[in-house]
Order: sequence, then C-alpha cells, then structure tokens
Amino acid sequence: MKSSTTSAIASRLPSRSYSEAAGAACGSGARAAPPHAARPAATTTAAESVRVVMVIHAYIAHSPRIRHAFAPALLTRAATDPMFAAMAQDLANKTFIVTGANTGIGKVTATELARRGARVIVACRSKGKAAAVIEEIQRDTGSASLEYVHLDLGDLGSVRACAEAIAARGTPIHGLINNAGMAGAKGLTRDGFELTWGTNHLGPYLFTRLLLDRIQQAGQARIVNVASASHYNATGIDWDALKQPTRSATGMREYAVSKLSNVLFAKELARRLDGTGVTTYALHPGVVATDVWRRVPGPLRWLIKRFMITPEQGAVASLRCATDPALAGQTGRYYDVGGKEKEPSPIAGDAELARALWTRSAEWTNLPA
Ligand SMILES: NC(=O)c1ccc[n+]([C@@H]2O[C@H](COP(=O)([O-])OP(=O)(O)OC[C@H]3O[C@@H](n4cnc5c(N)ncnc54)[C@H](OP(=O)(O)O)[C@@H]3O)[C@@H](O)[C@H]2O)c1
Repeated sequence: MKSSTTSAIASRLPSRSYSEAAGAACGSGARAAPPHAARPAATTTAAESVRVVMVIHAYIAHSPRIRHAFAPALLTRAATDPMFAAMAQDLANKTFIVTGANTGIGKVTATELARRGARVIVACRSKGKAAAVIEEIQRDTGSASLEYVHLDLGDLGSVRACAEAIAARGTPIHGLINNAGMAGAKGLTRDGFELTWGTNHLGPYLFTRLLLDRIQQAGQARIVNVASASHYNATGIDWDALKQPTRSATGMREYAVSKLSNVLFAKELARRLDGTGVTTYALHPGVVATDVWRRVPGPLRWLIKRFMITPEQGAVASLRCATDPALAGQTGRYYDVGGKEKEPSPIAGDAELARALWTRSAEWTNLPA
C-alpha cells in the first residue's frame, strides 16, 4: 500500500526533480546517484535511469526522515497536478469541521483546507494540543480562520454539547470530516459502549446527525468518514458486544467493526440524503505513520512506522473526498489510498445491515430513527 501510494505520487513527478530532491535529502546523494552521475549522459541507458530512479524511490519510500522532509513538497507538487485540482481550489467562505485535527491525518487535512482559505473548526478533546496545532497551522498557512471546539467522541454528552453549540451559531457547514479515531485500547465509553466502537462510530454518528441541518443549509456539502481497510476484516456486527467492554486481546476485532460501521453509516446517510446536495464518502487513508499506533510496543512501533506512508500522503484521500469537484456527483462510495474509488467489503454493501446500524445507533443516542 505504501509503495503503491508513493509510486503514484512519484509517477506524477518529473523524475529529475524527484532524484534531485532525494539526493539533497541524503546529504550528498552519493548512495543514490553516483553510477548515474559519474557517466556521461549519452552513455546512460534507459535501463540504468530506471534503476537509479527506483533506488531513489526506495530511499523515499523507506526512510521516514526523507519522507517527512519532502512530504510537504510532494503535497505542494501534487496540488498542481490535475488529479489534485481539488486541492488548489479556493475554499474561501466555506466552513469545514475536522475531528481529531490535533495530530496525524486530521492535522494535515485541517492545514491544507486552511491553506486554501477555508474556515476550519478543529474539533478535539485536548484544548492544549489543539491550541499548539492551530498556532502551527496559522504560521504555516497564514490563515486566521481556525477555531477550537471541545469534542470528546467517547462521551455522548460532550458530543451533544459540541454539536449543539456549533449548530446554534446558525452558519452553514460545507464539510464535516469525521477523522478522529482510536485503535487498540480496551474498555467502555462513558455511556457504556465498547470503547473503540463507541468512539469511532457512535460518537461521530451523533455528531453528524446533530449537525445535519447546518450541513444541508450549505446547499452543496460533504460528509467524509475516515474508515479503514480494516473494515474488510469484520464479518458482521454483534449488537450485544457493542454494549460490553472490549473482548479481543488486541482490540483490533472491535476496531474492524467500528470501521465497518463508518462505511455502512456513510452509505445509509447517502441513501437518506439523496437529492439534498449533501454527498457522503468513506475512505481508507493508507497505512500511515501517525499516533494511531501509540499502543504498539516501542521498538516494534519504530520498525513498522518506517514502512508506512506519511500523514501528508494519508490525508490525500480525505482532501479529495472533501473537496475534489470530480467527486461531487458521487455519494455513498468507498475510496482507497489517494482517493481512488474501490469496492468495500461485501458486508459493507449490505443495505439491511446499514439500516439496522442506523436504527440501533439512533436508539442508543436517543434520536428518532
Ligand atoms: N494511521 C493509519 O494507518 C490509519 C489507517 C486506517 C485508518 N486510519 C484512521 O484515520 C483516522 C485518523 O487517524 P490517525 O492515523 O491520524 O491517528 P492519530 O494520529 O492517532 O489521530 C487520531 C485523532 O483522533 C483523536 N481522538 C481519539 N479519540 C478521541 C476522542 N475520544 N474524542 C475526540 N478525538 C479523539 C485523537 O486525539 P488525541 O490526540 O487527543 O488522542 C487524534 O486527534 C482514524 O479514524 C483512524 O482510524 C488510520
């Protein structure tokens, strides 16, 4: 997944500037370029050029230091690519909410939306972390249109208070990016739901539904659920398990169900919002080197993160789903790394299950079905 994304971005870049960038990042480029650099250009065969580019690509793909150093440049370069026309859009006068924007994929998503002029509401559970990130985004983008709201998705009271406060302002919401999520923790939410499912699905479900009037008020608006390829691992939803503490040893079984719920929720929303101008999207961002891996033991975490894509690359799918005009007519679909449409699991296409999930979620959040 990592290499396909990196290749996808690399293939859209002129190989010369890509090589130069990698060479510079390596310090001298000595390991990447010498065979190529030492020979006269005329004697360089096409095969050798391809090999050199592949070596450099391997550096970028496998070295976090290089990837992190050059990811913003890659993202900026990608923004001029027709495929990423959406990212160059002027989003002035548009309001987006990004949950969990204080780090990882959400932080990059908020940054790029702000860079394009959007007003961004950073919905997080930590005021301190959010304040630092807002300051950083302001410095980076020059935007003064960022604002923090307190949101703890594992506490339905907090979700309700946050959504009601935003809704009470009466201003339209053009994009809601349900990005926040957690994996690998065990227990119950404050309201007695399995911790991962409650945080990753039930909280966002309530948040989205309470904001629907404001979202529809925008005329054309989008709801983006950051799901995961982990949803392919879920074979169904055990309703009883959702009201009990996490049972699996790693919590990943519950994570898969929570991410299946994200895809089903986007589909059911699409059905219910058909014709309103509001479109919905579910996506897998890629396997991304973020804090989501914080519960993996230290050395292993260090190792596996070296093989992941950057948050900048991971945010491309969210940004495309949230803004790309080419996706405006699509709704209820699932997208993979980079925002490429993909078939979700067969069970994620089960309309009856999507309806049942909506009904249960409504009942458990005291909303009309
Ligand atoms: N990274 C990957 O490889 C990967 C792959 C597939 C899908 N995803 C999905 O991508 C999304 C973004 O994850 P990420 O990789 O960027 O991870 P991350 O760096 O850990 O960011 C997750 C964000 O969610 C927030 N969050 C967690 N629990 C919350 C709660 N109860 N209330 C409010 N906010 C909460 C976190 O806040 P704190 O900082 O306060 O904890 C953080 O801001 C998640 O939905 C994740 O499941 C990630």
